[in-house]
Amino acid sequence: MSIQEIRHPLIRHKLGLMRRADISTKNFRELAQEVGSILTYEATRDLPLEDYSINGWCGPVQVQKISGKKITVVPILRAGIGMLDGVLSLIPGAKVSAVGIARNEETLQAHTYLERLVDDLDQRLAMIIDPMLATGGSMVATIDMLKKAGCREIRALVLVAAPEGIRAVEQAHPDVTIYTASIDDHLDENGYIVPGLGDAGDKIFGTK
Ligand code: PRP
Ligand code: URA
Repeated sequence: MSIQEIRHPLIRHKLGLMRRADISTKNFRELAQEVGSILTYEATRDLPLEDYSINGWCGPVQVQKISGKKITVVPILRAGIGMLDGVLSLIPGAKVSAVGIARNEETLQAHTYLERLVDDLDQRLAMIIDPMLATGGSMVATIDMLKKAGCREIRALVLVAAPEGIRAVEQAHPDVTIYTASIDDHLDENGYIVPGLGDAGDKIFGTK
């Protein structure tokens, strides 16, 4: 596995705004989509291209298109929904595989309540999206599920990652690359990322 921390100035700026304790639901939502979009741009840099010919305004011209596997975006519900439009703004044709996972607040164990995957996963590159990688339990469970369904190429996009979660994914799935806007410091005693963003799902959905 590799971890790529994307230190683009726009990401640093937007993430700084997201960390404010008094941020509104509206602003948090908008920024989660925007950072999701920039992470998508970086996570697709190495996609293969193939040449083809079209009729341009002055005659035949060689252009390029993305070749290889088609993409399925995999939001981990709920909070992953908060990045989905940002990702789809750059990959509008991607099919979406929804995975519902909730972390038990006491045990921190990931509990799966929804698995709605597209059916040709062996022919797709999966891009998992979730704002938070904390203990890594939710991410590891999602990757387990995708591999069981035949998916062989997986990338993960998270707004903030804790070192503990990075290690957990690295141990369980060394072939998966994680793209993140920030590697934060540590988890607190309740499993929250410090400095982190707080509860991303609550901030996106306006709950609590
Ligand atoms: C949050 C977050 C991740 C998970 C990360 O979701 O969006 O999915 O916790 O924690 P982990 O790395 O320790 O598994 P949560 O379970 O709070 O559900 P929600 O998205 O419905 O709010
Ligand atoms: N889930 C969140 O929403 N935030 C954290 O810091 C950890 C898990």
